[in-house]
Amino acid sequence: MSRKFKWEDRYRLGFDQMDKIHSEFVEVVDSLIQSDDPEDIKKCLVLIERHAIDHFETENQWMIESNFPAAQCHIEEHSNVLKSIREVLECFDAQLAKDLGMALMDWFPGHADYLDSALATWMVKRRFSGAPLIFRRNPISSDERDNPMHSRGVDELPQSSTV
Ligand SMILES: [Fe+2]
Ligand SMILES: [Fe+2]
Repeated sequence: MSRKFKWEDRYRLGFDQMDKIHSEFVEVVDSLIQSDDPEDIKKCLVLIERHAIDHFETENQWMIESNFPAAQCHIEEHSNVLKSIREVLECFDAQLAKDLGMALMDWFPGHADYLDSALATWMVKRRFSGAPLIFRRNPISSDERDNPMHSRGVDELPQSSTV
């Protein structure tokens, strides 16, 4: 049985435009993970590539326009992920594409926690002169309850100066 990639409150970073993009990322990757027909899988992968281009380009622009510190490693990670997506698309194989979907699902939480959250905080601070306030429906998700290493409160969000 396939795993499910669902949007969770813990993915919210308090910068609405980014949260919206991330919820779309979760949706397009989950569509691929749930597909079994090779043609559907290929269509999903094409959508993932389109999404990734917009997603990463938007974040890269935010970093460049706002002189975000340590933008380079974030931009490079985007570029590596897009490269992997394109490689699988070029020599398409349904199982490989499914494996990529699972890899993207596993990659996203770490990228969001360590790179995107710093950018979200930076953007909100620039626009509103303050750190983002994050209202989560369930402050402690089941994952966080089971694994205290995943716990993260508003006060613990990485600050731009520590990146
Ligand atoms: Fe992102
Ligand atoms: Fe990112």
